[in-house]
Amino acid sequence: MAKTESVQDTCVLVTGGCGFIGSHTVVVLLERGYEVVIVDDLSNSSEKVLDRIDQIVGDDAAQRLTFVRADVADKDALDAVFDEFQIDAVIHFAGYKAVGESVEKPIEYYSNNIGNTLALVDVMRNHGCKSIVFSSSATVYGDPDALPLTEESPKKPATNPYGWTKWMIEEILASLVVADPEWNVVLLRYFNPIGAHASGLMGEDPKGIPNNLLPYVAQVAVGRRDAVHVFGDDYNTPDGTGVRDYIHVMDLAEGHAAALAWMANKTGCEVFNLGTGTGTSVLEIIKAFSAACGRELPYVIEPRRAGDVTANYADCTKAREVLGWEAQYGIAEMCRDSWNWQSNNPNGYEG
Ligand code: UD1
Repeated sequence: MAKTESVQDTCVLVTGGCGFIGSHTVVVLLERGYEVVIVDDLSNSSEKVLDRIDQIVGDDAAQRLTFVRADVADKDALDAVFDEFQIDAVIHFAGYKAVGESVEKPIEYYSNNIGNTLALVDVMRNHGCKSIVFSSSATVYGDPDALPLTEESPKKPATNPYGWTKWMIEEILASLVVADPEWNVVLLRYFNPIGAHASGLMGEDPKGIPNNLLPYVAQVAVGRRDAVHVFGDDYNTPDGTGVRDYIHVMDLAEGHAAALAWMANKTGCEVFNLGTGTGTSVLEIIKAFSAACGRELPYVIEPRRAGDVTANYADCTKAREVLGWEAQYGIAEMCRDSWNWQSNNPNGYEG
Protein backbone atom coordinates (compact mmCIF):
# COMPACT_ATOMS: atom_id res chain seq x y z
CA MET A 1 0.00 0.00 0.00
CA ALA A 2 2.76 2.32 -1.01
CA LYS A 3 1.13 5.36 -2.52
CA THR A 4 -1.02 6.87 0.12
CA GLU A 5 -1.85 6.73 3.77
CA SER A 6 -5.40 7.88 3.28
CA VAL A 7 -7.89 5.05 3.48
CA GLN A 8 -10.28 7.09 1.32
CA ASP A 9 -7.92 6.84 -1.64
CA THR A 10 -6.89 3.27 -1.08
CA CYS A 11 -8.14 0.50 -3.32
CA VAL A 12 -7.84 -3.07 -2.10
CA LEU A 13 -8.18 -6.12 -4.30
CA VAL A 14 -9.77 -8.95 -2.32
CA THR A 15 -9.41 -12.34 -4.00
CA GLY A 16 -12.03 -14.79 -2.77
CA GLY A 17 -14.02 -11.87 -1.42
CA CYS A 18 -17.32 -13.76 -1.72
CA GLY A 19 -16.18 -16.53 0.60
CA PHE A 20 -16.67 -16.83 4.35
CA ILE A 21 -13.74 -14.82 5.68
CA GLY A 22 -13.42 -12.69 2.54
CA SER A 23 -16.99 -11.41 2.64
CA HIS A 24 -16.78 -10.39 6.30
CA THR A 25 -13.47 -8.66 5.63
CA VAL A 26 -14.99 -6.78 2.67
CA VAL A 27 -17.71 -5.43 4.98
CA VAL A 28 -15.13 -4.12 7.43
CA LEU A 29 -13.02 -2.55 4.66
CA LEU A 30 -16.02 -0.79 3.12
CA GLU A 31 -17.08 0.48 6.54
CA ARG A 32 -13.55 1.84 7.03
CA GLY A 33 -13.78 3.77 3.75
CA TYR A 34 -11.67 1.63 1.45
CA GLU A 35 -12.47 1.07 -2.19
CA VAL A 36 -12.73 -2.68 -2.75
CA VAL A 37 -12.52 -4.86 -5.83
CA ILE A 38 -13.49 -8.50 -5.34
CA VAL A 39 -12.16 -11.11 -7.73
CA ASP A 40 -13.93 -14.41 -7.15
CA ASP A 41 -14.86 -17.23 -9.52
CA LEU A 42 -17.77 -18.31 -7.28
CA SER A 43 -16.48 -21.90 -7.35
CA ASN A 44 -17.21 -22.24 -3.64
CA SER A 45 -19.27 -19.14 -2.91
CA SER A 46 -22.47 -17.41 -3.91
CA GLU A 47 -22.96 -14.14 -5.76
CA LYS A 48 -25.88 -13.53 -3.39
CA VAL A 49 -23.40 -12.53 -0.72
CA LEU A 50 -22.91 -9.29 -2.65
CA ASP A 51 -26.50 -8.20 -1.96
CA ARG A 52 -26.00 -9.01 1.71
CA ILE A 53 -22.83 -6.91 1.82
CA ASP A 54 -24.76 -4.03 0.25
CA GLN A 55 -27.54 -4.38 2.82
CA ILE A 56 -25.08 -4.30 5.69
CA VAL A 57 -22.88 -1.40 4.58
CA GLY A 58 -25.59 0.72 2.91
CA ASP A 59 -25.78 2.26 -0.54
CA ASP A 60 -23.04 4.86 -0.18
CA ALA A 61 -20.37 2.44 0.94
CA ALA A 62 -21.62 -0.20 -1.51
CA GLN A 63 -20.74 2.17 -4.35
CA ARG A 64 -17.10 1.65 -3.45
CA LEU A 65 -17.39 -2.10 -4.16
CA THR A 66 -16.79 -3.75 -7.52
CA PHE A 67 -17.20 -7.44 -8.22
CA VAL A 68 -15.30 -9.18 -11.00
CA ARG A 69 -16.14 -12.81 -11.64
CA ALA A 70 -12.84 -14.39 -12.58
CA ASP A 71 -10.41 -17.09 -11.61
CA VAL A 72 -7.34 -15.58 -9.94
CA ALA A 73 -5.20 -17.87 -12.10
CA ASP A 74 -6.54 -16.04 -15.19
CA LYS A 75 -3.76 -13.53 -15.76
CA ASP A 76 -5.59 -11.70 -18.53
CA ALA A 77 -8.55 -11.09 -16.25
CA LEU A 78 -6.27 -9.93 -13.46
CA ASP A 79 -4.37 -7.66 -15.83
CA ALA A 80 -7.65 -6.05 -16.82
CA VAL A 81 -8.48 -5.44 -13.15
CA PHE A 82 -5.10 -3.82 -12.51
CA ASP A 83 -5.46 -1.74 -15.69
CA GLU A 84 -8.86 -0.46 -14.63
CA PHE A 85 -8.21 0.10 -10.93
CA GLN A 86 -5.29 1.65 -9.13
CA ILE A 87 -4.85 -1.29 -6.75
CA ASP A 88 -2.78 -0.35 -3.70
CA ALA A 89 -2.83 -3.66 -1.85
CA VAL A 90 -4.16 -7.18 -2.22
CA ILE A 91 -5.73 -9.48 0.35
CA HIS A 92 -5.46 -13.00 -1.03
CA PHE A 93 -8.14 -15.39 0.24
CA ALA A 94 -8.94 -17.31 -2.93
CA GLY A 95 -8.07 -20.98 -2.65
CA TYR A 96 -9.40 -24.47 -2.15
CA LYS A 97 -9.74 -25.27 1.54
CA ALA A 98 -11.17 -28.73 2.16
CA VAL A 99 -8.56 -30.85 3.91
CA GLY A 100 -10.03 -34.25 3.01
CA GLU A 101 -10.60 -33.29 -0.61
CA SER A 102 -7.01 -32.08 -0.86
CA VAL A 103 -5.83 -35.61 -0.02
CA GLU A 104 -7.98 -36.98 -2.87
CA LYS A 105 -7.08 -34.25 -5.36
CA PRO A 106 -3.50 -33.13 -4.70
CA ILE A 107 -2.89 -31.98 -8.27
CA GLU A 108 -5.95 -29.72 -8.20
CA TYR A 109 -5.03 -28.30 -4.80
CA TYR A 110 -1.38 -27.62 -5.56
CA SER A 111 -2.10 -26.25 -8.99
CA ASN A 112 -5.02 -24.06 -7.92
CA ASN A 113 -3.71 -22.64 -4.66
CA ILE A 114 -0.09 -22.24 -5.63
CA GLY A 115 -0.80 -21.51 -9.31
CA ASN A 116 -3.25 -18.73 -8.57
CA THR A 117 -0.86 -17.15 -6.07
CA LEU A 118 2.01 -17.18 -8.59
CA ALA A 119 -0.26 -15.68 -11.26
CA LEU A 120 -1.40 -13.02 -8.81
CA VAL A 121 2.04 -11.90 -7.64
CA ASP A 122 3.33 -11.88 -11.22
CA VAL A 123 0.52 -9.57 -12.33
CA MET A 124 0.95 -7.47 -9.18
CA ARG A 125 4.66 -7.02 -9.88
CA ASN A 126 4.00 -6.10 -13.50
CA HIS A 127 1.67 -3.37 -12.30
CA GLY A 128 3.97 -2.13 -9.54
CA CYS A 129 1.70 -3.31 -6.70
CA LYS A 130 3.81 -5.12 -4.13
CA SER A 131 1.67 -5.21 -0.99
CA ILE A 132 -0.08 -8.44 -0.14
CA VAL A 133 -1.83 -9.91 2.88
CA PHE A 134 -2.05 -13.69 2.71
CA SER A 135 -4.66 -15.89 4.28
CA SER A 136 -2.49 -18.47 5.99
CA SER A 137 -3.39 -20.96 8.68
CA ALA A 138 -2.32 -22.33 12.03
CA THR A 139 -2.08 -25.58 10.11
CA VAL A 140 1.54 -24.58 9.32
CA TYR A 141 2.43 -25.27 12.97
CA GLY A 142 1.44 -28.94 12.55
CA ASP A 143 1.46 -30.94 15.78
CA PRO A 144 2.89 -28.41 18.23
CA ASP A 145 5.64 -29.18 20.75
CA ALA A 146 4.51 -26.40 23.08
CA LEU A 147 1.48 -24.18 23.60
CA PRO A 148 0.54 -21.40 23.13
CA LEU A 149 1.88 -21.01 19.62
CA THR A 150 3.86 -17.88 18.92
CA GLU A 151 4.98 -16.70 15.49
CA GLU A 152 8.42 -18.07 16.42
CA SER A 153 7.05 -21.58 16.97
CA PRO A 154 8.52 -23.81 14.27
CA LYS A 155 6.62 -24.63 11.12
CA LYS A 156 6.08 -28.39 11.08
CA PRO A 157 5.38 -30.72 8.17
CA ALA A 158 1.81 -30.41 6.98
CA THR A 159 -0.39 -33.49 7.14
CA ASN A 160 -2.25 -32.91 3.88
CA PRO A 161 -1.87 -31.08 0.54
CA TYR A 162 -4.12 -28.21 1.67
CA GLY A 163 -1.79 -27.56 4.59
CA TRP A 164 1.25 -27.81 2.34
CA THR A 165 -0.18 -25.18 -0.01
CA LYS A 166 -0.46 -22.71 2.91
CA TRP A 167 3.03 -23.70 4.03
CA MET A 168 4.55 -23.25 0.58
CA ILE A 169 2.74 -20.04 -0.31
CA GLU A 170 4.17 -18.51 2.87
CA GLU A 171 7.64 -19.49 1.63
CA ILE A 172 6.95 -18.17 -1.87
CA LEU A 173 5.83 -14.80 -0.55
CA ALA A 174 8.79 -14.60 1.84
CA SER A 175 11.09 -15.29 -1.13
CA LEU A 176 9.65 -12.32 -3.00
CA VAL A 177 10.82 -10.01 -0.23
CA VAL A 178 14.30 -11.53 -0.29
CA ALA A 179 14.52 -11.02 -4.07
CA ASP A 180 12.98 -7.56 -4.12
CA PRO A 181 12.91 -5.54 -0.89
CA GLU A 182 10.09 -3.38 -2.24
CA TRP A 183 7.62 -6.19 -1.49
CA ASN A 184 5.42 -5.80 1.53
CA VAL A 185 4.04 -9.14 2.74
CA VAL A 186 1.87 -9.92 5.75
CA LEU A 187 1.13 -13.57 6.53
CA LEU A 188 -1.90 -13.96 8.77
CA ARG A 189 -2.11 -17.35 10.44
CA TYR A 190 -5.73 -17.90 11.37
CA PHE A 191 -6.73 -20.27 14.08
CA ASN A 192 -10.33 -21.57 13.77
CA PRO A 193 -12.66 -18.94 12.29
CA ILE A 194 -16.32 -19.35 13.22
CA GLY A 195 -19.33 -17.11 13.91
CA ALA A 196 -21.07 -14.82 11.47
CA HIS A 197 -21.99 -11.19 10.97
CA ALA A 198 -24.23 -10.07 13.85
CA SER A 199 -26.97 -9.06 11.38
CA GLY A 200 -27.56 -12.71 10.47
CA LEU A 201 -27.19 -11.73 6.82
CA MET A 202 -23.79 -13.29 6.23
CA GLY A 203 -22.13 -16.44 7.50
CA GLU A 204 -20.43 -19.67 6.57
CA ASP A 205 -22.16 -21.61 3.81
CA PRO A 206 -20.18 -24.74 2.99
CA LYS A 207 -21.27 -26.83 0.03
CA GLY A 208 -22.04 -30.47 0.86
CA ILE A 209 -21.29 -32.07 4.22
CA PRO A 210 -19.29 -29.63 6.35
CA ASN A 211 -15.76 -30.75 7.22
CA ASN A 212 -15.33 -28.26 10.02
CA LEU A 213 -16.95 -28.52 13.40
CA LEU A 214 -18.98 -25.32 13.62
CA PRO A 215 -20.91 -25.47 10.38
CA TYR A 216 -21.69 -29.10 11.18
CA VAL A 217 -22.97 -28.21 14.66
CA ALA A 218 -25.03 -25.37 13.19
CA GLN A 219 -26.63 -27.74 10.68
CA VAL A 220 -27.51 -30.16 13.50
CA ALA A 221 -29.06 -27.25 15.38
CA VAL A 222 -31.21 -26.33 12.41
CA GLY A 223 -32.27 -29.95 11.81
CA ARG A 224 -30.36 -30.58 8.59
CA ARG A 225 -28.23 -33.28 10.29
CA ASP A 226 -29.04 -35.73 13.09
CA ALA A 227 -26.14 -35.48 15.52
CA VAL A 228 -22.67 -34.05 15.86
CA HIS A 229 -19.92 -36.63 15.33
CA VAL A 230 -17.23 -35.99 17.91
CA PHE A 231 -13.91 -37.19 16.51
CA GLY A 232 -12.26 -38.76 19.53
CA ASP A 233 -12.75 -38.41 23.28
CA ASP A 234 -9.45 -39.98 24.32
CA TYR A 235 -7.14 -37.02 23.72
CA ASN A 236 -4.93 -35.74 26.51
CA THR A 237 -7.22 -32.75 27.18
CA PRO A 238 -9.51 -31.96 30.15
CA ASP A 239 -12.57 -33.67 28.64
CA GLY A 240 -10.73 -35.87 26.13
CA THR A 241 -11.92 -34.01 23.02
CA GLY A 242 -9.79 -31.85 20.71
CA VAL A 243 -9.02 -28.29 21.77
CA ARG A 244 -8.86 -25.38 19.32
CA ASP A 245 -8.62 -21.59 19.38
CA TYR A 246 -11.93 -20.49 17.83
CA ILE A 247 -12.04 -16.90 16.65
CA HIS A 248 -15.05 -14.84 15.60
CA VAL A 249 -14.94 -14.13 11.87
CA MET A 250 -15.62 -10.42 12.53
CA ASP A 251 -12.57 -10.29 14.80
CA LEU A 252 -10.62 -11.90 12.00
CA ALA A 253 -11.98 -9.36 9.52
CA GLU A 254 -10.88 -6.55 11.85
CA GLY A 255 -7.47 -8.20 12.01
CA HIS A 256 -7.13 -7.80 8.23
CA ALA A 257 -8.07 -4.14 8.42
CA ALA A 258 -5.52 -3.67 11.20
CA ALA A 259 -2.84 -5.39 9.13
CA LEU A 260 -3.63 -3.25 6.08
CA ALA A 261 -3.45 -0.03 8.06
CA TRP A 262 -0.21 -1.11 9.73
CA MET A 263 1.57 -2.18 6.55
CA ALA A 264 0.93 1.06 4.64
CA ASN A 265 4.23 2.49 3.44
CA LYS A 266 6.24 -0.39 4.86
CA THR A 267 8.22 -3.18 3.22
CA GLY A 268 9.29 -6.60 4.41
CA CYS A 269 7.57 -9.78 5.53
CA GLU A 270 5.76 -10.15 8.84
CA VAL A 271 3.78 -13.02 10.32
CA PHE A 272 0.90 -12.66 12.76
CA ASN A 273 -1.22 -15.19 14.59
CA LEU A 274 -4.89 -14.29 14.65
CA GLY A 275 -6.67 -16.15 17.42
CA THR A 276 -8.06 -15.45 20.87
CA GLY A 277 -5.44 -17.23 22.96
CA THR A 278 -8.10 -19.45 24.52
CA GLY A 279 -8.56 -23.14 23.84
CA THR A 280 -12.06 -24.66 23.68
CA SER A 281 -12.91 -28.37 23.42
CA VAL A 282 -15.39 -29.97 21.03
CA LEU A 283 -17.76 -30.77 23.91
CA GLU A 284 -17.54 -27.17 25.16
CA ILE A 285 -18.50 -25.98 21.67
CA ILE A 286 -21.50 -28.30 21.57
CA LYS A 287 -22.56 -27.03 25.00
CA ALA A 288 -22.15 -23.38 24.02
CA PHE A 289 -24.07 -23.87 20.79
CA SER A 290 -26.83 -25.73 22.66
CA ALA A 291 -27.15 -22.71 24.94
CA ALA A 292 -27.26 -20.39 21.94
CA CYS A 293 -30.00 -22.31 20.15
CA GLY A 294 -31.93 -23.30 23.27
CA ARG A 295 -31.80 -27.06 22.74
CA GLU A 296 -29.43 -29.82 23.84
CA LEU A 297 -27.71 -30.85 20.63
CA PRO A 298 -27.24 -34.61 20.23
CA TYR A 299 -23.77 -35.97 19.64
CA VAL A 300 -22.05 -39.31 19.19
CA ILE A 301 -18.45 -40.15 19.97
CA GLU A 302 -16.51 -41.44 16.97
CA PRO A 303 -12.91 -42.53 16.49
CA ARG A 304 -10.27 -39.84 16.05
CA ARG A 305 -10.02 -38.21 12.62
CA ALA A 306 -6.73 -38.88 10.86
CA GLY A 307 -4.38 -35.90 10.90
CA ASP A 308 -6.05 -34.09 13.82
CA VAL A 309 -3.85 -32.60 16.51
CA THR A 310 -4.72 -32.80 20.20
CA ALA A 311 -4.75 -29.10 20.94
CA ASN A 312 -3.64 -25.77 19.57
CA TYR A 313 -4.14 -22.20 20.57
CA ALA A 314 -2.38 -18.96 19.83
CA ASP A 315 -0.27 -16.47 21.64
CA CYS A 316 -1.55 -13.24 20.06
CA THR A 317 0.80 -10.85 21.83
CA LYS A 318 2.49 -9.80 18.60
CA ALA A 319 -0.75 -8.82 16.87
CA ARG A 320 -1.81 -6.87 19.95
CA GLU A 321 1.47 -5.02 20.36
CA VAL A 322 2.29 -4.42 16.69
CA LEU A 323 -1.11 -4.19 14.98
CA GLY A 324 -3.04 -2.90 17.97
CA TRP A 325 -5.53 -5.69 17.32
CA GLU A 326 -7.14 -8.04 19.79
CA ALA A 327 -10.08 -10.41 19.51
CA GLN A 328 -13.21 -9.02 21.18
CA TYR A 329 -15.65 -11.90 21.12
CA GLY A 330 -15.91 -15.09 23.17
CA ILE A 331 -17.39 -18.50 22.37
CA ALA A 332 -20.92 -17.53 23.50
CA GLU A 333 -21.03 -14.64 21.01
CA MET A 334 -19.53 -16.77 18.25
CA CYS A 335 -22.24 -19.42 18.75
CA ARG A 336 -24.99 -16.78 19.08
CA ASP A 337 -24.04 -15.18 15.76
CA SER A 338 -23.54 -18.49 14.02
CA TRP A 339 -26.99 -19.61 15.18
CA ASN A 340 -28.54 -16.31 14.14
CA TRP A 341 -27.12 -16.77 10.63
CA GLN A 342 -28.01 -20.47 10.37
CA SER A 343 -31.55 -20.12 11.75
CA ASN A 344 -32.29 -17.20 9.43
CA ASN A 345 -30.71 -18.97 6.46
CA PRO A 346 -31.13 -22.70 7.11
CA ASN A 347 -29.93 -23.55 3.62
CA GLY A 348 -27.35 -20.82 3.38
CA TYR A 349 -27.40 -18.21 0.62
CA GLU A 350 -29.32 -20.44 -1.78
CA GLY A 351 -32.07 -21.20 0.73
C1 UD1 B 1 -9.20 -27.85 9.93
C2 UD1 B 1 -8.01 -28.34 9.18
C3 UD1 B 1 -7.01 -27.23 9.09
C4 UD1 B 1 -7.65 -26.03 8.41
C5 UD1 B 1 -8.92 -25.62 9.11
C6 UD1 B 1 -9.66 -24.62 8.25
C7 UD1 B 1 -7.98 -30.75 9.54
C8 UD1 B 1 -7.21 -31.89 10.10
N1 UD1 B 1 -7.48 -29.54 9.78
O1 UD1 B 1 -8.77 -27.46 11.24
O2 UD1 B 1 -5.90 -27.67 8.35
O3 UD1 B 1 -6.75 -24.96 8.41
O4 UD1 B 1 -9.78 -26.74 9.28
O5 UD1 B 1 -10.82 -24.20 8.85
O6 UD1 B 1 -8.98 -30.92 8.91
N2 UD1 B 1 -14.48 -32.13 14.91
C9 UD1 B 1 -15.43 -33.00 15.37
N3 UD1 B 1 -16.49 -33.28 14.53
C10 UD1 B 1 -16.63 -32.71 13.29
C11 UD1 B 1 -15.63 -31.81 12.85
C12 UD1 B 1 -14.57 -31.54 13.69
O7 UD1 B 1 -15.34 -33.55 16.47
O8 UD1 B 1 -17.61 -33.00 12.60
C13 UD1 B 1 -13.37 -31.76 15.83
C14 UD1 B 1 -12.00 -32.01 15.29
O9 UD1 B 1 -11.55 -33.29 15.60
C15 UD1 B 1 -11.20 -30.90 16.00
C16 UD1 B 1 -12.21 -29.77 16.15
O10 UD1 B 1 -13.47 -30.37 16.05
O11 UD1 B 1 -10.81 -31.32 17.29
C17 UD1 B 1 -12.09 -28.70 15.07
O12 UD1 B 1 -12.13 -29.30 13.80
P1 UD1 B 1 -12.26 -28.44 12.45
O13 UD1 B 1 -13.37 -27.47 12.60
O14 UD1 B 1 -12.32 -29.39 11.30
O15 UD1 B 1 -10.92 -27.61 12.43
P2 UD1 B 1 -9.39 -28.11 12.51
O16 UD1 B 1 -9.27 -29.58 12.39
O17 UD1 B 1 -8.77 -27.48 13.69
